[in-house]
Amino acid sequence: MKTTSLLLITGLLLTACSDDPSPQGSPTTMPNSQSTAKIQTAQPPVARERDFAKDMRGRKLFTQNCASCHGSQAQGTPQWSTPGADGKYPPPPLNGTAHTWHHPTPVLKRTIREGTIAIGGKMPPHAGKLSDEDMEAIIAWFQSLWPDEIYDTWARMDAEVSNNQTKQ
Ligand code: HEC
Repeated sequence: MKTTSLLLITGLLLTACSDDPSPQGSPTTMPNSQSTAKIQTAQPPVARERDFAKDMRGRKLFTQNCASCHGSQAQGTPQWSTPGADGKYPPPPLNGTAHTWHHPTPVLKRTIREGTIAIGGKMPPHAGKLSDEDMEAIIAWFQSLWPDEIYDTWARMDAEVSNNQTKQ
């Protein structure tokens, strides 16, 4: 009897989690730690941290430093995946429709810091122009444009990369 109701609660929580990304349940309705582990295995959506002031700062910095190539809404160039006449790729969208979400934070920051000219691309470096905090604000802003599923997949991959780096 006890097991049945516990399974029922777990089932309900899982259903709630997959339907609605907002955190569910108060501490009094949380199941014991074993069930919590089960919920983590089923991967509830990653809570999206939003900081309005940071997003606005990022948007402004993006407009000043990136929009001339990547577009005012980070929409990039329609033909971003085909090299131009110069054999180089045009600026891709950073709004979640291309593959920026395949890159963990250290790679995104490295691209912004070092650009791609040195490796045969067309993006200039921003080292010395943007601080670490500036880059984080810009990344946070363009990530605010990503659909939840894209952000979710990125956040899990990013957390894994950070974990591995801490272990080394
Ligand atoms: C002069 C044009 C130009 C400017 C300015 C520019 N970029 Fe780029 N960016 C590019 C191009 C072109 C690429 C594609 C890579 C390459 O050069 O081959 C790119 C690639 C990127 C990528 C990798 C995207 C992916 O999906 O792999 C990121 C991230 C990025 N830019 C962010 C920024 C940010 C943030 C800024 C502003 C701080 C910025 N860029 C400014 C032209 C530019």
